[in-house]
Amino acid sequence: MKERLAKAAREAMSQAYAPYSGYCVGAALLCADGSVYTGCNIENAGYSATNCAERTAFFKAISDGKREFTAIAICGGKGGQLTDRIVSPCGVCRQVMREFCDDAFFVHLVTDTAIQTMTLAELLPLSFGPDNLTV
Ligand code: THU
Repeated sequence: MKERLAKAAREAMSQAYAPYSGYCVGAALLCADGSVYTGCNIENAGYSATNCAERTAFFKAISDGKREFTAIAICGGKGGQLTDRIVSPCGVCRQVMREFCDDAFFVHLVTDTAIQTMTLAELLPLSFGPDNLTV
């Protein structure tokens, strides 16, 4: 399954809108029901309005009614060229994952030759999440 997700992430990367950084990212999010949502980064002339590939995938899925997720694959590189360097999700994307995913959620970091798998707990230790707001 991680290979299938990695392939979907690569395909999504080809849709990246990254005229400012030239750094193209793709993500493929596996829902608990088996469906897959992809996303790319979408940059903006007002740089802070940029949306990362991971959040694009999550927001597409959530706006489609999905709430349970199993794994995400992420890849990227300058000009859409994968290298041996992973794309590690930014802090905002990790926090969005935390809203909808548990500690065991798998994050597959895809390079040109390998897939490094981490859990959300490893990427975002001591996190603040929805459970912190319950009494
Ligand atoms: N980017 C992502 O889409 N995901 C990440 O995990 C890291 C960074 C995008 C945002 C921006 O369009 C470009 O990569 C350079 O930061």
